[in-house]
Amino acid sequence: MKPKVYVTRTVSPEVREYLQEHCDCKFAESNDWPGKERFFASVADAEGLLTAGSTPIRISDELFDHAPRLRIVSNIAVGYDNFDVEAMKRRGVMGTHTPGVLDDTVADLAMALILAAARRVAELDRLVRRGGWVKGIDKELFGLDVHHATLGIIGMGRIGEAVAKRARLGFDMEVLYFNRSRKPEAEARYGAVYASLDELLARSDFVVILTPLTPETTKLIGREQLARMKPTAFLVNVSRGPVVDEAALIEALRSGTIRGAALDVYEKEPVDPDNPLLAMDNVVLLPHIGSATAKTRRDMAMLAARNLVAGLKGETPPNLVPELKGMVPGRLI
Ligand code: GLV
Repeated sequence: MKPKVYVTRTVSPEVREYLQEHCDCKFAESNDWPGKERFFASVADAEGLLTAGSTPIRISDELFDHAPRLRIVSNIAVGYDNFDVEAMKRRGVMGTHTPGVLDDTVADLAMALILAAARRVAELDRLVRRGGWVKGIDKELFGLDVHHATLGIIGMGRIGEAVAKRARLGFDMEVLYFNRSRKPEAEARYGAVYASLDELLARSDFVVILTPLTPETTKLIGREQLARMKPTAFLVNVSRGPVVDEAALIEALRSGTIRGAALDVYEKEPVDPDNPLLAMDNVVLLPHIGSATAKTRRDMAMLAARNLVAGLKGETPPNLVPELKGMVPGRLI
């Protein structure tokens, strides 16, 4: 008998077919959240769950109480801050993610945000659309050069290295980085210089946040850290909203503590319509699209499906999250 799996996201026909070959699948009707009650009813007999961080349910005891047969949760995302890894360890539920396949796509978006913020792309697009381009552009609307500027990368994992590569080789930027461990390869290849967080904040023209969300990185950038940045600098966040204290950021943007920000992620997603950031011209805002190209999302979903099937077969899934390494799956296929 094939193991029962619930899929919370709409996936491509190819991924659907692969899953159906190995599992007895139930697919969510749409990507809309059905509410807790209906969700819990859908997972009541599931042994595997294919999901994504944007599904508003934590992978924790409450879910396991409603899905007692669950053995593996496969995230279509590299981030897995939706996992309560301690609860997963306790309940013997494996968790996987999709590192690697999205690195270049997210790095491209980080560069797009840096460029958009520095050259005021979104702001000036709005100006042209509303008929505000009536003469030459005054110096009040000039931007800032990205090439040869200093980039500070907070969180030098694979995506950080892909950003460093673009910055150094494409834009002749000086690259500083702050990370738990030194990255000799990034230092050798892209001249990346390891710095303390304070030093990075003080020296960078662009600070890019790429660190995963953990208890240690929650509100890593608050009022004190923003005050260390140059008044001409930009903060770019493509990791997770709660790494930045959003109220402190709003205050820093209002008071001119920093020049601007470019955000793909927020403390609350989707953002509330009355979020003050929406009214600020010195902020570029995107709706959490870091990995959102058709190809990369397809690749992520297929990788997540393979992780899920491997776990259900009793194999160690290729992308078990680091905290759960060593977990031995029971064979269900
Ligand atoms: C997206 O945010 C991801 O973690 O892949």
